[in-house]
Amino acid sequence: MVTTQPQQASNTNQLLRDRVVLITGASRGIGAATAKLMGQHGAAVGVNYYGSEAEAHKVVESITSDGGRAVAVKADVRDLQQVNAMVQQVTETLGAIDTLVINANADFPITPFVDYRWEDFEAKLLGELKGAFFPCKAVVSSMIERKRGTIIAVSSGLSRHPGEGFIAHSTAKSGLDAFIKSLALELGPHGIRANVVAPGLTLTDATARLPQAYKDASSQMVPLKRNGLPEDVAGAIVLLASDEAKFINGAYLPVSGGVQML
Ligand SMILES: NC(=O)c1ccc[n+]([C@@H]2O[C@H](COP(=O)([O-])OP(=O)(O)OC[C@H]3O[C@@H](n4cnc5c(N)ncnc54)[C@H](OP(=O)(O)O)[C@@H]3O)[C@@H](O)[C@H]2O)c1
Repeated sequence: MVTTQPQQASNTNQLLRDRVVLITGASRGIGAATAKLMGQHGAAVGVNYYGSEAEAHKVVESITSDGGRAVAVKADVRDLQQVNAMVQQVTETLGAIDTLVINANADFPITPFVDYRWEDFEAKLLGELKGAFFPCKAVVSSMIERKRGTIIAVSSGLSRHPGEGFIAHSTAKSGLDAFIKSLALELGPHGIRANVVAPGLTLTDATARLPQAYKDASSQMVPLKRNGLPEDVAGAIVLLASDEAKFINGAYLPVSGGVQML
C-alpha cells in the first residue's frame, strides 16, 4: 500500500473537491485515466488494482505529485472479503467513500456462440456482476447513513447493440445496466445517484489485441472520425460524479463519438 497526504492544491474549477472516490481496475486503461482526472478535480482517489501493482503506484504518484491524495489498494473485485477489506482500507486512509466507479474489466474470449464454452460465458457473467455487486454492497450502507453518494458503472455500447463474438460481453453488460437501474430506483430516495457510461471501442490494453485494420474501419464509422480514448470516458465519469449532474439518475450515457445514438 502506498499513501501520501500532502496539501491539496486549491482550484475553484475542480468538480470533485473534498470527494473520496474508489475506482475498481484503476491501474490501467479507462480506470487509470479516470483516477488521474478525478485527482485533478480534487478528489482523493482509491486506486484499485489486481495484478498491476507497479502501474497502480504510478497512477497514485501522478495524483500525489500534483498535490492530491491517493492510495493504491489490491483486491480481486470478484472476492467479497477482498472487496470489504479494500473499502475499509480506503475509508481509513482517505475517508468515507462518496463515489464508486465500477470499472474493472472482466476479460472474456471473443468467440461465436456456436463455439462458446459455458465455463467462459459463466466466468464473464459472474465476474462482471460480482465486480459490481460486492463493491456496491460494501459502500452503500455508509452512503445511506450520510444521505449522499454516486455510483457510476462502466458498461459498453455492446450492452444494447450486439457484436459478433461478443455474446458474453453483451449479456454481462446488459445485466450490469439493469443492476445499476435498480440501484438508481432503490437508492435514489437516500440521496444516492447511480448511472452508466457506455464506451464504444476505446484504445486500451483490452483492445490492443484487435487488428489495426478493424480499429481503423471502426474509427471511420464514428461521426467524430476517431477511436475513443480512455480520457474520453474519464471525462463523462467525472461529469456524472459531479454535482453538475445532480439530477441525472438511472441514465445510460454512450461515450462513442456518436456511433451509438439513443
Ligand atoms: N476498451 C474498450 O474498448 C471498452 C469498451 C467498452 C467498455 N469497456 C469497459 O471499460 C472497462 C475498463 O476497460 P479497459 O479497456 O480500460 O481495460 P484494461 O485496459 O484491460 O484495464 C483493465 C483494468 O481492470 C482491472 N481488473 C481486471 N480484473 C480485475 C479484478 N478481478 N479485480 C480488480 N481489478 C481487475 C485491471 O487491473 P490489473 O491490471 O491490476 O489486474 C486493469 O486495471 C471495462 O469494464 C470494460 O468492459 C471497455
